[in-house]
Formats: sequence, C-alpha cells, structure tokens
Amino acid sequence: MAIARRKFDAVIVGAGGAGMRAALQLSEAGLKVAVLSKVFPTRSHTVAAQGGIAAALGNVTEDNWHWHMYDTVKGSDYLGDQDAIEFMCRQANEVVYELEHFGMPFDRLENGKIYQRPFGGQSQNFGGAQATRSCAAADRTGHAMLHTLYQRNVRANTQFFIEWMGLDLIRDEQGDVLGVTAMEMETGEVMVLEAKATLFATGGAGRIFQASTNAFINTGDGLGMTARAGIPLEDMEFWQFHPTGVYGVGVLISEAVRGEGGYLLNKDGERFMQRYAPHAKDLASRDVVSRALTMEIKEGRGCGKDADHLLLKLDHLGADVINMRLPGIREIAIKFAQVDPIKEPIPVVPTAHYMMGGIPTNFHGQVVAPYKTGPEEVVPGFYAVGECACVSVHGANRLGTNSLLDIIVFGRAAGNQIIEDLKKSPHHKPLPVDVADRTLARLARLESQKGGESVAQVGTALRKTMQAHCGVFRFADMLKEGVAKIGEVAERAAQTEIKDKSKVFNTARIEALELDNLAEVALATMVSAEARNESRGAHARDDFPERDDEKWLKHTLYFSTDRRLDYKPVRLKPMTVESFPPKPRVY
Ligand code: FUM
Repeated sequence: MAIARRKFDAVIVGAGGAGMRAALQLSEAGLKVAVLSKVFPTRSHTVAAQGGIAAALGNVTEDNWHWHMYDTVKGSDYLGDQDAIEFMCRQANEVVYELEHFGMPFDRLENGKIYQRPFGGQSQNFGGAQATRSCAAADRTGHAMLHTLYQRNVRANTQFFIEWMGLDLIRDEQGDVLGVTAMEMETGEVMVLEAKATLFATGGAGRIFQASTNAFINTGDGLGMTARAGIPLEDMEFWQFHPTGVYGVGVLISEAVRGEGGYLLNKDGERFMQRYAPHAKDLASRDVVSRALTMEIKEGRGCGKDADHLLLKLDHLGADVINMRLPGIREIAIKFAQVDPIKEPIPVVPTAHYMMGGIPTNFHGQVVAPYKTGPEEVVPGFYAVGECACVSVHGANRLGTNSLLDIIVFGRAAGNQIIEDLKKSPHHKPLPVDVADRTLARLARLESQKGGESVAQVGTALRKTMQAHCGVFRFADMLKEGVAKIGEVAERAAQTEIKDKSKVFNTARIEALELDNLAEVALATMVSAEARNESRGAHARDDFPERDDEKWLKHTLYFSTDRRLDYKPVRLKPMTVESFPPKPRVY
C-alpha cells in the first residue's frame, strides 16, 4: 500500500505550551516545522492550567532562583535531578519576561509589575517564610500562554496539522529516530512524516484514572509510541493527585484559591491542614495535602451524606477578589458543583492531575536511554519536552506552577538543541523500507478483529483498576493484584473490536489507538509502583511508610517490550552550586 510522505526539518507531536514553545524557536530560526495536534492548538491541555507560572521575580516578596531551586528539590522529595532543576530555576525569570514581551497578558500589580501569588511549597531563604512566586493571568494562565504562543507561531509560519494523531515512531536499524507515522482524524489516512528531528510534546496521560483533572485527549500517546519503539519510561510510579478536584466531576479547582487565602475544612468545620503541616498549612506541597484529605475521609471526618469529600472555603475573600483573581474558579464551581463560592464552600476531593515520570531526557530535551545493549546515550533525532518527558525536575512530586515553567524552559531549550544538532547533521537519513509496517499491522488488526469487547468497556476496566489499585495511598496486595489485572486489561485492549469501519471522523478507531497508549502507561505505572518499596513524594506505600534513600534514591526505568525494570542514579550534583542533600521533608 502506497503511503503519502512529507519531509520536514522538525516534526513536533503535540501543540500545547511545550510543543509550541519549541516550534516557535525552530520556525523563527528558519526551519521547516510541522506541529501535529489531535485538537485545535489552543484547545491543548495547557489551556486548563490555572494558577500561574513559577519564577522568582520577587515582585511581591523578596525571592531568588536559588530558593526556588531548593523548594523544587525538596518538593521532589530529593528524586529530582539537581542539574536540571538548577537549569530550570535559573532561566525562569528570563522566560517569563520573554512571554511578557511576546504579548502574554499577565495580571498586574498596582506598580505595573507582573502579578504574583503564593503557591504550595514556595519558601524564602531555604525553607523559611512563604514566598510569592507564581506569575498569573487571573486563574487562566495556561489559556493566556497558549493563545500567545499560537499567535507567535502563526506569525513564524509554523505549519500545523490540526486533528492529526501520531501513531508510531520511525527508527532505523541503528535506532536513530527519523520521524513518525500519523493519521488524519478526519479521513483516516495514514502518512509518513519524515524529519531530521522528532520532538514529542504530547502531554500527560491522566486519563488512565477514573477521576482526573486531565482533558480527554491526555491518553499518553507519546509514551505509548516511545514504549513500543523499545525506549524505556522513567519514574512512572509517581502520579500527582491534586488536592482539589471538584467532587464527583474531577475538574480542577486551582491551588490559587488557597494561594489567595482560601482554606480546607472537614465536617467539623476544622482547618485540618494545621495538624498535618503546622508551618505551611493549606500551602504545603500537594502530595502532603492530598494525603491529608484522604486521611480525613478515611477517619470519618469527610463531609456530605457519604462523608466522602472536604470543603474549600473562599467566601471570606469577598466578591471583588473572587471576581478579579478567580473568575474561572467561580464559573467552574457554579457549573460543575452547583455552588457559588462567593456564598458557599466548594466540595473537593484529591484527583489525578500530573504525571511526574515520562520519556527520559536530559535538560536539552534530548531523549537519553540505554536503547541498545550499552549504557545510556542520546537517541539521535529524538527529543521530548513537557509532561510527557522526565527531565527530571519534578522527581517524586511536582510543585504547583512549576509545570508551566517546565514546558517553556525545556521547550525553548529543545528548540535550541535541535538547531545546533541540525547544523551538524543537515541531511535526512534514508528511511527503512518497512517504515510504516508496524503502524499498518496495528491498523489491520483493528480492522479485522471480530467478537472482541468494545474499546469503551476495556477503557472503563483500565481506569477503574488504576483508580482502585494505584491511588493516593498504595498497598502491597492491591498493587500485586493490580499488576495482574492491568496485564489482563492490556491483553483485552489488544483484542477490541471496532464495529464502525468507516474512515471519516471515526472516533471509535481513534479511541482504540488511544487505548493502546493508555494500556502502555497503565502497565508502566503499576509495575513500577509495585516494585518501589518505600514512600517518596506522591508514591505513598502503606507497608513502607518511610523514604529509603539507601535503597531507593534512584530513578526507575520500565521497558515495555519485556515488562522489565532497571534503575539509574539520581543526578544529585547541580551545575554550579552546592548540592541539596536529602533530609527529612516537613512543611
Ligand atoms: O492548581 C493549579 O492551578 C494547578 C497548577 C499546576 O498544576 O501547576
């Protein structure tokens, strides 16, 4: 079967903040860039980021990048790579001012400077008083950022492939990456997109859980493609549960609410966070707050007739503050929880939010993996940035508003790295003869299978299993059973039947392809979590309640091809400053 081919200098899969920041760097350098996106670019999940982007501008409280670095290392529960964290925090101010100059409409303080608000885990002076570090555009910071970047890309002539889904990575015999196969969702046509540089910016995979703040598009497509191509996934056991998803719905209620002075209450009207984090209280790190909410519910202090949620109170902030700083939150609360937060508290529960693990990269966005039999090395032609990548700046737990910073810093860095790499390797390498065989075999399987379950059935089983077996607290027997159950779900996923064989806007086919990716991510998560016998950051084991630096200060690598685990050391040495050695983590 003849398949259409297109050639680009760089192909980027994903049009969220990370993909678009990288694309901008490349297009402005005169390279021919294609960006593929399952949705219109400004509907990518970055649009849902609410509270801000972290940078130590010091507009409200004294601040500096080194304090930000300390907070990020501590927030990561010492699993973050300190060279990458230094790189990110040092560049934060510069990339925020750059966004401002791109036209991003940040809120302003009275003196005209960028508005900043406090977020969890931010401190002055290495663990002292609360810092105020998150630069915000009301509670729609991601929305403002995404529109700014899209407009700049249009101006720079980036070519968008809208409603296209990446299917498989193309590698040659040496393992070099030469592009992707992709499908136009409207027509079902498959195309080979050949590239000197292929960058994944496909975002997260929160849709492996039943209750998630993530968009429906967040199905881990980049991770699935990477895993199928024989490259390991790093630290997949670490998933962040945001403390405040709308009860029963999952939509995000920004930590900005607590940054502006809102707080959590249990059924007795108690500000329970004082018991769990006496110093930082409601602005402790997210893993700490999510565990506290879960404990309150478990011990019978939850609210409502089923005692299964907590309340987030913000009416005392007053209508003016709520309408000016948190207008989106008010709208979400009214629409999804049927409460007006100017008058009543919002019912909330911890909800799956962010994947700390991902495709292993260095801080130039290059994918680094032991992809042959030898040690780790850069995989030529392959880059990953944003939530799908594991740099690792977030380690075992990400601090709020460090994700928008991550996508901008590393999107730009990967763009710069690609520009340099293409100067050294300016030519396309020859494509293998079997370039699309794997993709076509997957599609043929989908078309031909009969009598299998529907994608919806298997997807529901996957999400229920992840929710029940791999949540805020993790238990040895549940994880063991979870590994077996997810293994079965993955087998069922490989046998689903698509009843509708038409090509035009066939969402059933797209969902089946997404299910392959969800199954890869779910397996990686469960297998990695079962093996890590300690509690660190967001990975809280009931049977191993303590962090164990002697045995577990290391990154997990999961190889999908044989469901094998390996480990690699944490990079504890920063670039220019002293290391922050692990110590007990209290807030
Ligand atoms: O709570 C929030 O606004 C989310 C921010 C983040 O995940 O960084």
